[in-house]
Amino acid sequence: MGLKKIALIGGGQIGGVLAQLIASKQLGDVVMYDIVEDLPQGKCLDIAEASRIDGFDVSVKGTNDYKDIEGSDLVIVTAGLPRKPGMSRDDLLVTNANIIKTVAENVKKFAPNSIVIIVSNPLDAMVTLFQKVTGFEHNRVMGQAGVLDSSRFATFIAWELGVSVKDVNALVLGGHGDTMVPIVRYANVNGIPVMELLEQKYSDRSKAAEVMKAMVERTKQAGGEVVKLLKTGSAFYSPASASIAMAESIIFDEKRVLPVCAYLNGEYGVNGYYVGVPAILGKNGIQKIVEFSLDQEEKALLDNSVNAVKSLVADMERLGF
Ligand code: APR
Repeated sequence: MGLKKIALIGGGQIGGVLAQLIASKQLGDVVMYDIVEDLPQGKCLDIAEASRIDGFDVSVKGTNDYKDIEGSDLVIVTAGLPRKPGMSRDDLLVTNANIIKTVAENVKKFAPNSIVIIVSNPLDAMVTLFQKVTGFEHNRVMGQAGVLDSSRFATFIAWELGVSVKDVNALVLGGHGDTMVPIVRYANVNGIPVMELLEQKYSDRSKAAEVMKAMVERTKQAGGEVVKLLKTGSAFYSPASASIAMAESIIFDEKRVLPVCAYLNGEYGVNGYYVGVPAILGKNGIQKIVEFSLDQEEKALLDNSVNAVKSLVADMERLGF
């Protein structure tokens, strides 16, 4: 696959890390758009000046003019406000919906054939709005949440068991909010169920269940934990890495099975909403939603999370978006 043009809409914390990762991995030429004058130009100049050191020769350019994203193959949207301590992702709804609407209009105009990954929160609503405004096919508009939420879950499991995180597989489904659903039953270390390893460690079923419950809760609150520590914004290194994993699967047509915020058309019993589920990501975006059977409890948790997404989208529509 040839070199791609990648537009980053939003040159804040996540946008900056994205640009650096894309450049150092030579995934494509970067155009970073931000509304703040000179900010994207400054960040991109700074990154480009590391090209000799890191040995990349892609171009990294900042702009305040949407015209410069013309013909982009991939667009990653991080424009919008991040959370401050005490805020939920949903508190960002009105402000970020206004921003995403403008972003969507411009991406539609200047990069009408692009595949789009949304990162801005509240994620599920922002992806819904972006798709609605652009009218792009659902398979090329998706959101980043599950890759990060799953990585957080895997990290906590690896720390708890004292094993390499590389061998931990853990999946988080549902909306990107407090109702997200870490799937305990399939969490494994190279195929070995995590619950079995916890039971070995503690020689006690209820203690193992308690430890797992704490990891599930920490995963659900992990974004807030970082916000509380940073005080001035939200997580940015890990959301950038997660978006890059998605971008690479698309750019190199890897067909990785990643949890993404994808449009459901009956899958998992959901019709017409964007929800986090496993999907195959390839050169056309979402190639296929991967379904697997959930037990009763998992199904109830997912339904609860889907209901939270539905009410968020309803709130957004009530506000006129
Ligand atoms: N068009 C383009 N960029 C905009 C606009 C707009 N209308 N409004 C704001 N921005 C820019 C800001 O100028 C800022 O540089 O979006 C950038 C956002 O960057 P940060 O405030 O640093 O936020 P960041 O941590 O990158 O998170 C971005 O992703 O995870 C979510 O909740 C997070 O919604 C937030 C988004």
